[in-house]
Amino acid sequence: MDRRTFLTAGTIAGAGVTLGARHAAAAAAAAQDAAAHTVPAGARFERTPREKARIGFIGTGLRGREHLRLISLRDDTLIPAICDIDAGAIAASQKLLADAGRPDAEVYTGGEYAWQDMIARDDLDGVIIATPWLWHTRMAVGVMKAGKYAGVEVSAANTLEECWDLVNAYETTGMPCMIMENVCYRRDVMAILQMVRAGLFGELLFLECGYQHDLREVKFNNGRQPYGGGVEFGEKGFSEAKWRTWHSVHRNGDIYPTHGIGPVGVYLDINRGNRFTAMSSVATKARGLHKYIVDQAGSDHPNASVRFKLGDMVTSTIQTQQGETIIVKHDTNNPRPYSLGFRVQGTDGLWMDVMDKLHIEGRSPKHQWEDANAWLEKYDHPLWKRFEDRAVGAGHGGMDFFVDHAFVEAIKAGVNTPLDAYDAAAWSAITPLSEMSIAAGGAVQTFPDFTRGRWMTRQPVFSLDDSY
Ligand SMILES: NC(=O)c1ccc[n+]([C@@H]2O[C@H](COP(=O)([O-])OP(=O)(O)OC[C@H]3O[C@@H](n4cnc5c(N)ncnc54)[C@H](O)[C@@H]3O)[C@@H](O)[C@H]2O)c1
Repeated sequence: MDRRTFLTAGTIAGAGVTLGARHAAAAAAAAQDAAAHTVPAGARFERTPREKARIGFIGTGLRGREHLRLISLRDDTLIPAICDIDAGAIAASQKLLADAGRPDAEVYTGGEYAWQDMIARDDLDGVIIATPWLWHTRMAVGVMKAGKYAGVEVSAANTLEECWDLVNAYETTGMPCMIMENVCYRRDVMAILQMVRAGLFGELLFLECGYQHDLREVKFNNGRQPYGGGVEFGEKGFSEAKWRTWHSVHRNGDIYPTHGIGPVGVYLDINRGNRFTAMSSVATKARGLHKYIVDQAGSDHPNASVRFKLGDMVTSTIQTQQGETIIVKHDTNNPRPYSLGFRVQGTDGLWMDVMDKLHIEGRSPKHQWEDANAWLEKYDHPLWKRFEDRAVGAGHGGMDFFVDHAFVEAIKAGVNTPLDAYDAAAWSAITPLSEMSIAAGGAVQTFPDFTRGRWMTRQPVFSLDDSY
């Protein structure tokens, strides 16, 4: 069944249906879904709507504390408990709470599994997880099994088995798992979503995205800090060097795909009328991190003998059920300005974020690029218009406000989160699939259908209006 046949099979009739009409119908379907507080059949837990969302935190490092700060600024939240293994992180978190006029949170610490005691509390509705990657899935699964909403930082899973663990935990517990992909809420990304939904680019064909961020300093601080020795929290360098660098040493794949694929997944209605079907990946040789160490610390430094498995440029090509293709890049080991490199191209035009330009046939001068800003303003998402003031000062240009807002509002209403366990699984699966493909010389890998066929009837729900 092609995209249109299938999308019109449900609520929309007729061949000439527009994308705008389709999303209007989807909005109605989503509202019904929300009103019914839909949970998977046979799920273990009921969800109870609440006036104030009671949120706990596992991992209050740099990222966790931005979530904590934003949640603490809201008057519709309570923060009963926090968990971290690092005393400095806990102290900094309590100070944040005091600065926001909040009481101290109860602390869970002293061991890597202290979070299990925290999630057993009965006064938490949701838990935000901002720990190193290898902890994400087991913590998110634990949170769902404890009857709470899981809000898990990116990426959500490291292996295909972990992707399935997230989906299975959601389906058996009925507790949502929101992948906290803040880039889905970037202002220009959301304006482009409006344009996609209004059909301005025509039928989508080809999208590009990536994580292109010079992380050499983050991974190695000044290049001299011994690898594996770690760094003191927040003092001598970036705390992420303690765990993130390990992945560059041991894995060759796209190890951080979701900032790019999240927005693209929303544009393409992945898991909601569409799905990723296959992927192949290639990687260049690994040079950048070694060169950085030698340039910073000399060829005699012990770090110069660390061997990196991660190719400097990892490029993946994804195919979708509805006939689009996507290129996803991972590029973190060499000098370059930050860019997620979005390109959204359809039968009527395209947008490229790195140039801040677009071209729309019949609207832009023939064969010419046009500055995107007037369009981005015109199609500014209603959510941004409504909450612009509250987003001021929130991390990453304000988008962090929106991802936390969505998590809190879903909990308060007792409904599904707009990004869910299926999104977490499909987006995170790029990492293990790219590793398998690269190891097999670029061989095509099949994407699991984490929805088990439900992508055919699930409707788009992400930010259809100005609520969250
Ligand atoms: N969405 C974004 O824009 C964004 C930005 C930065 C980081 N992140 C993600 O957030 C996560 C955390 O990154 P970060 O920069 O805060 O790293 P970080 O190293 O600063 O913080 C991680 C924290 O987790 C704690 N921790 C580790 N193991 C734990 C355990 N078993 N129990 C409890 N606490 C534990 C550490 O002590 C530390 O305080 C990562 O997944 C990262 O990819 C996302």
